[in-house]
Amino acid sequence: MPDNHIAVLRQMIEKGLIDIPLPKNPTKLYAPMQYILALGGKRIRPILTLLGAELFGAEAKLALPQALAVEVFHNFTLVHDDIMDRADVRRNTPTVHKKWDDNVAILSGDGMMVLAYQLLADAKPEHLPTLFKIFSATALEVCEGQQYDMDLAHAEEVFMPQYIEMIRLKTAVLLTAAMQIGAKVAGANKADLDQIKVFTENIGLAFQIRDDYLDAFGSQADFGKKIGGDIIEGKRTWLTVRALEKANSAQHKALLDAYADSDLDKRVKTVLELYKALNVEQDAQVAIEALSSTAMNGLEQVDGNESVKGELETLVHYLMGRTK
Ligand code: IPE
Ligand code: IPE
Ligand code: MG
Ligand code: MG
Ligand code: MG
Repeated sequence: MPDNHIAVLRQMIEKGLIDIPLPKNPTKLYAPMQYILALGGKRIRPILTLLGAELFGAEAKLALPQALAVEVFHNFTLVHDDIMDRADVRRNTPTVHKKWDDNVAILSGDGMMVLAYQLLADAKPEHLPTLFKIFSATALEVCEGQQYDMDLAHAEEVFMPQYIEMIRLKTAVLLTAAMQIGAKVAGANKADLDQIKVFTENIGLAFQIRDDYLDAFGSQADFGKKIGGDIIEGKRTWLTVRALEKANSAQHKALLDAYADSDLDKRVKTVLELYKALNVEQDAQVAIEALSSTAMNGLEQVDGNESVKGELETLVHYLMGRTK
């Protein structure tokens, strides 16, 4: 993590996660929850919740239950996402469905979603309607995004606006909810919550584009997931969509043919070669920087604590260049 204050928040989150009281039995329901939650991860979303609270003058710990709710919900989405994406490795360890089986992953994931709601509810009663409204609307949007993600994997053509809407739903909205929830716990008003969205939504898009980039060009040891996994699953990532935009007709055909190749090693190799030839790797970084700069302009408009804004800026710089 980039600096001291954020490291302190992260530690608070790690301890909070360990302290969540979970029953022992049935083992196959609760052990996978413990397993995935203990595997680390960057904890970006709960950090945003705590910084959201601090931005509006509250102590971070006031929003800790909600920060944990967001992280538990995120981990639930990962458990189910890994079944859907047939991913065997996450955070450099076997995924829940791989270590146990699909049914265990489905049910413990469902349980985590309920646990997330329990944690969310540990707030002042007057804040509950807004917190539940944000959380539930967001959860449903993530489902919409995940469905679009799967639909697009089978689509002939995918254009950039469709791709951006898909990642807005599957990824960016949760970053927005994370921070708005922290802000709400601190007593922020509707205008503040709306203004936060400009910041988080753009960060969220940049975050997913970086994830797509790392899936193709990252180091497996750092990233913790199988490199080339998106290509193997036929996912239309930012890189694919940009490559299709830039390709001449021969390259366009070559890319679609490669995506259909049943020899998976060859599929990954050919797609990566086309990405390189079309220089989409560099385009991705340019897009990430543009989104981050829009996000920072949005943050400037937020009527919140200036030193917390500085922390958020540090976080953004870290996310733009992340390798994990
Ligand atoms: C992975 O999220 C899912 C995406 C939306 C890209 P993270 O990259 O935040 O995963 P962890 O929690 O740090 O492992
Ligand atoms: C994840 O997108 C979005 C959600 C989990 C909702 P990805 O499928 O790209 O995430 P990773 O790469 O498996 O973490
Ligand atoms: Mg996925
Ligand atoms: Mg996935
Ligand atoms: Mg990914």
